[in-house]
Amino acid sequence: MRQRADELRREGRRIAVVPTMGALHEGHLSLIDRALELADVAIVTIFVNPKQFGPNEDLASYPRREENDLALASARGAAIGYCPSAEMMYPSGYQTQVEVTEVSKGLCGASRPEHFAGVATIVTKLLAATKAHVAVFGRKDYQQLVLVRRMVADLDLGTEIASAPIFRDDDGLALSSRNRYLSADERVQATVLYRALRDVRERFERGQRNAQDLEAKLVVRIREAPGLELDYAELRSADSLEPIDGEIGDAAIALVAARVGTTRLIDNIELGGAAGDKP
Ligand code: PAF
Repeated sequence: MRQRADELRREGRRIAVVPTMGALHEGHLSLIDRALELADVAIVTIFVNPKQFGPNEDLASYPRREENDLALASARGAAIGYCPSAEMMYPSGYQTQVEVTEVSKGLCGASRPEHFAGVATIVTKLLAATKAHVAVFGRKDYQQLVLVRRMVADLDLGTEIASAPIFRDDDGLALSSRNRYLSADERVQATVLYRALRDVRERFERGQRNAQDLEAKLVVRIREAPGLELDYAELRSADSLEPIDGEIGDAAIALVAARVGTTRLIDNIELGGAAGDKP
């Protein structure tokens, strides 16, 4: 991969990478579209990263459909699919880990303590292997996006970090590779997440600015919904993900995570814009 990346760079081509764990859906494919707006060559990486799954999580059952994914990525314009094995990424003797201390705390980091170190580590390795000028991440995994931005800045990696909006089905459910675990009933129940987030945004747009009040509305709405077990529902600063005490000043983001049956889903909505790509 590094040799190919060197060749591309020598040819003066701008490289974008879209890191994924496969099971590609339209949301991932929209990241390839964004990558091709920002660069000449799009590389899609497919690697189900064992280091970002907890002991009781779905590593073994995570959908793997590499051939199909590569065909989808190529049809969408990606020139290269990079699919390393776990042995290539973490050979015997491997011992290095990248940790972004503050951004990893709270939200998903509270119930998935090892997750973000796993993400930071693999993203560092994928950026090194692909030598990408720009990397594109979806805004559904918003904490991940903020973490990667922080990491790239802190380690002076020099890669531009771009993002693309959440891709939703007609019923509002954010696309996720894990949606395929949902039964028909659970899928309907899961749509409450987006409705609850939209309700908070409408309140915000009507002038309600107290973070704790809006958060309370979100919590109640999800707790009362049949079939959902709330993990968190919080309002945070959109830039840093720091908690907001009282009035919302700058752009904020409402983030939720809940279990529907055995499937853990996350979603978010931006309040006041500004969470998109930074220059
Ligand atoms: O968002 C994902 O699919 C993964 O966390 C990523 C960024 C590919 C790292 O494994």
